[in-house]
Amino acid sequence: MRRSSITKMLIERMSMKRSVQTLFFMACMFVAGVTIMNYCPGAAAQSTTLKPGDEFRAVYGTTALDIADGKRLAEASCAGCHGTNGISTTQGVPHLAGQRPAYLYLELKAYQSGARGDTAMNNAVKFLSDDALVKVAAYFASLDPVQSPATSGAKVAPAKPDPVQAGKSAAAGCAGCHGEAGVSKVPGMPSLVGLDPKYLVAAMKAYKSGQRKHDMMKSLLGAVSDADMNNIALYYALQKPARAETPATGNQAAGKAATAGCAGCHGDQGVSGNPATPSLAGQDAQYLAAALRAYKGGSRNDETMKGLMASLDENAIKNLSAYYATQQPQPPNVRKPLTTDEWVQRCDRCHGLNGNSTDPRLPALAGQRVEYLRNVLHDYRTRTRKSTEMAAMSDVLTEDDVENLAAFYARQKARAVVYVPLPSK
Ligand code: HEC
Ligand code: HEC
Ligand code: HEC
Ligand code: HEC
Repeated sequence: MRRSSITKMLIERMSMKRSVQTLFFMACMFVAGVTIMNYCPGAAAQSTTLKPGDEFRAVYGTTALDIADGKRLAEASCAGCHGTNGISTTQGVPHLAGQRPAYLYLELKAYQSGARGDTAMNNAVKFLSDDALVKVAAYFASLDPVQSPATSGAKVAPAKPDPVQAGKSAAAGCAGCHGEAGVSKVPGMPSLVGLDPKYLVAAMKAYKSGQRKHDMMKSLLGAVSDADMNNIALYYALQKPARAETPATGNQAAGKAATAGCAGCHGDQGVSGNPATPSLAGQDAQYLAAALRAYKGGSRNDETMKGLMASLDENAIKNLSAYYATQQPQPPNVRKPLTTDEWVQRCDRCHGLNGNSTDPRLPALAGQRVEYLRNVLHDYRTRTRKSTEMAAMSDVLTEDDVENLAAFYARQKARAVVYVPLPSK
């Protein structure tokens, strides 16, 4: 119904203006079977053939008269919040000028049906006819987009450093004991490579809170923030695992025979698959033995491990430690997070180069207000705003990614809808 009406609007426009008949999208949408919801994957790739002068203003409305109607409505009902020219000066209210027409229309429908919840917007569109929505969408789409990124407020959000680099810097003071890249060279000092970042963070927090008793580690971590702990853990987890370069005295074969009761939790060769249970493979033998004694004696508080240690004598402790120390550590199951640039490449596949969407159904992000972009990405994450595509994308973003991406797109120069002429035959 409404979708086909937009398509109809586009078709009318095509027959109306022969000179722009070869607009890429329209051609593409025809190929796609005239259904506006079909994604047209060629769009982004095609836009690279753009030459200066190929840009036209978007006028997806039916006629100039319709746009004038849309303008009257906008001035009466929308300008108070969205600004006279669709350029918002109000926190939390998005710019609408130059936004893609089919997208605007579909969002207005979503507010009207309640599928997208926002009290201000639900009320603003409640009593508008479908015809009015088409016209007001066409009007806002026809406006020049925001020119100065200053209005986007993007300057207040400087890009945050790469978490792995930040972790490396924050771990500079740890290398003296824990070894370069977390491979211990000092007997008694644990290696930090090959350990799951969740385990590392939990261990650091336990020292800091005093729950795991070790005065030196407590004071060393006293000034380290939670964010830095996360970064440090990520840094170590991404280093190449190697055995501690320390001696392992003890009978490995006897140690191996004693691991039957350990493998269920710590893995067959001391490589654990559970973030709450540390891997033991390649760990410094002296540290392992000290940890086992600490559990046994109760100075390291863990009921599970204490119970298991009760029956182990000093020989068994040495042998188990020697066995695990000589096993090959494995990388924990973490991936290097994407940089903002790498994310942008993924987002731009749908949202267009630097967020200048070339698909009338997909929103442009370039030049949008920074706090609006940030809010919306959070709304997708919490499913307050529903979208299959964006739920999948936003789930894997960290808080820092959201900040960086919002700032990146808010800084980009916004361009009006771009028409790409097809090569003539
Ligand atoms: C009382 C203030 C207010 C009024 C009046 C108002 N809006 Fe909005 N509008 C907002 C806010 C706030 C948002 C962001 C809500 C959200 O996050 O979903 C918004 C969002 C939108 C969006 C979604 C933009 C996007 O990028 O997804 C569209 C489209 C829109 N408004 C169009 C209109 C139109 C058309 C009118 C007039 C008929 C109007 N608004 C009147 C406050 C208002
Ligand atoms: C002066 C030497 C020293 C320095 C510097 C040091 N540590 Fe430690 N660290 C130790 C010792 C010793 C232990 C074992 C403590 C225990 O028995 O619980 C340890 C234990 C740990 C553990 C627990 C390992 C495990 O397998 O449970 C983590 C995590 C850790 N340190 C992180 C850090 C970080 C991060 C830094 C730098 C901010 C750091 N350490 C600096 C000596 C040091
Ligand atoms: C029921 C599961 C379970 C079993 C079985 C088990 N462990 Fe553990 N082990 C844990 C958990 C959980 C921890 C982390 C406790 C903590 O935070 O202090 C741990 C910690 C350890 C540590 C400290 C590692 C470090 O980096 O600080 C050593 C060493 C260890 N276990 C050795 C063993 C040995 C040897 C056996 C067999 C005799 C064994 N464990 C059996 C669950 C288990
Ligand atoms: C597979 C295609 C696709 C990809 C990839 C994608 N998006 Fe989207 N995005 C959409 C669609 C479709 C919508 C409109 C959904 C709706 O109606 O809420 C949208 C909406 C948005 C909006 C709301 C715009 C507005 O004006 O309200 C933001 C912000 C956004 N995306 C950011 C991103 C970011 C950042 C990335 C990369 C991490 C990304 N998107 C990747 C398809 C995509």
